[in-house]
Amino acid sequence: MYEETISGSARFILHHGPGYRAWRAAKLRAHDAAAAVSPVEIRDPARLSPGELCRLRDALARDNLVFYACAGRVGGAELRSLGRQLGLQRLDYHLCADPSGVATITDGGAQAAGEFIPYTPRALNWHTDGYYQPAERCVRAFMLHCVAKAQQGGANRFFDHELAYIALRDREPRWIEALSQRDVLTIPGHAVAPDAARPAVAGAVFSVCDDGGLHMRYTARKRHVVWKDQSAVLEAIAFLHELLDDPSGFALRYTLQPGEGVVCANVLHSREAYHDDMPLRRRTLLRARYRDSLPVH
Ligand SMILES: [Fe+2]
Repeated sequence: MYEETISGSARFILHHGPGYRAWRAAKLRAHDAAAAVSPVEIRDPARLSPGELCRLRDALARDNLVFYACAGRVGGAELRSLGRQLGLQRLDYHLCADPSGVATITDGGAQAAGEFIPYTPRALNWHTDGYYQPAERCVRAFMLHCVAKAQQGGANRFFDHELAYIALRDREPRWIEALSQRDVLTIPGHAVAPDAARPAVAGAVFSVCDDGGLHMRYTARKRHVVWKDQSAVLEAIAFLHELLDDPSGFALRYTLQPGEGVVCANVLHSREAYHDDMPLRRRTLLRARYRDSLPVH
């Protein structure tokens, strides 16, 4: 069945060439960097119109990511409501989130997490969210909403993980095999992690979820991370580092403006360092992470 070939898990099976090639061709044909960075206007995040919902879903299906712009006030309740309309129900609770499950990302904003880089103005290297969590708590989607932007800096970069998969597989299929090993990336235990002390977590970079979607677990950090010592693994991550930082590549750079946000299938992302002069109006983003996938596959 054509639909099954394009959207089923066959596209991620290494020896299933036709399924992969059909999906790859459709994915690259649909890619449009200019469209990806133009936000979808929404009037009321708690009550999307059919047209707004359709535009959000179309962009998510194409890019695994969509930016939106909303003139009205958006707090945690509105953000969760927006998520529910996109099929996101199961929040990933985190020590730094409020009881509703939404975290406020600002400099020193979460007292328990003040020393962790997301809660400082420092740059955040490429990663997918929850890479330090075990497979049963994997983060399939997240939303970021900008309440206040930094005076200088703070742009995010995003890279569709499916495009990273294609680049790796096209260059060397063995790399996909190497990065799919269940012990390829180990995050050592942490005594004071933001979600309480945690044991070491080993897992794959690429895995295929029950719904046929591709999940990527990755961090470009150099410290407190152990890569499996195999030549294919080391070659693959060296290639990936270059790919993500290639200025002519697929990375989208975007500075969220107040009232704007992004919904994504936990694609690769990073953040540039920022600077705020006025402590009372410092960069503030709301973040909700989900264990549900976006219904785009
Ligand atoms: Fe993140």
